[in-house]
Amino acid sequence: MKQDFLSLADFSSKELQDMLVTGLVMKDRPADFRDSLKGKTLGMIFNKRSTRTRISFQVGILQLGGYGLVLSPNDLQLSRGESIEDTARVLSGYLDAVMIRTFAHEEIVEFARHATIPVINGLTDFNHPCQAMADMLTLLKYHSTLEGLKLAYLGDSNNVTVSLLMACVHFGMHMSIVSPEGYTLDPAVLESVREEAEQKGLSITLTSDVAEGVADADAIYTDTWTSMGQEDEAEKRLKDLDAYRVDQRVMSLAKSGAFFMHCLPAHRGEEVTADVMDGGQSLVWEQAENRLHIQKSILYHLMK
Ligand code: CP
Ligand code: NVA
Repeated sequence: MKQDFLSLADFSSKELQDMLVTGLVMKDRPADFRDSLKGKTLGMIFNKRSTRTRISFQVGILQLGGYGLVLSPNDLQLSRGESIEDTARVLSGYLDAVMIRTFAHEEIVEFARHATIPVINGLTDFNHPCQAMADMLTLLKYHSTLEGLKLAYLGDSNNVTVSLLMACVHFGMHMSIVSPEGYTLDPAVLESVREEAEQKGLSITLTSDVAEGVADADAIYTDTWTSMGQEDEAEKRLKDLDAYRVDQRVMSLAKSGAFFMHCLPAHRGEEVTADVMDGGQSLVWEQAENRLHIQKSILYHLMK
């Protein structure tokens, strides 16, 4: 049975923990895995732009002995109306796995339903599971366990927020999501993790109060205020989210030595000030690098 990587909700905490452990080993000893996906081909469909996801997947499959093929939507008959179902069936005959970045989450679910090869989510409007896994790997370098840590997310509750929340609940972390009205998390997502969070004794807080939300946080995370596809709303978003910028004052309200995290691309002066982004508490470059290591682990677990 093929397994997809569409949402962290589809995995047990143990399975995700195993992926993190493999990711750490791969980061330490890349040569040990040089031929582990020898001769396998990964297709990558990007309906949105990407720097990190595209390059880390392409390099990742190469480092595992396989081959990566970027499939621009303009080159596929998909852009001329061939159905997702037919495309998924055809590509399943050529490729060993496919990674997709697209707009509507339903598109990737539909693709996965008709594909007989693993489908990996490289970001949809709903979530970004590879990013959250890289972020967890990043925190593990500084904490022997993720259990009991608190992550505070500030700004627009978006696709990255959804996957971070799921990751926090899987790995036993408390989370506060700090957003103004109109930018809060979809209540259905919160409901989907409520029971497990309660069982694990985790505090998941939604607030619009920055000081309350970041208090005692081990890491403060933010993302762009205008995600891909929302460009028409950019001006309004800048105004609405102005009080949610991560600056030195906000950092000082968290635990002393708290980390700053961002999935990138960042906009200095908007969601984060340059001094925080480029300062000593920032983990952003490690997060970006860890995309490579965790995605190699994800590829390995799905394709080996
Ligand atoms: N963080 C992230 O997914 O970056 P890209 O959009 O560059 O892939
Ligand atoms: N929330 C952002 C993440 C980019 C990696 C977006 O969807 O554009």
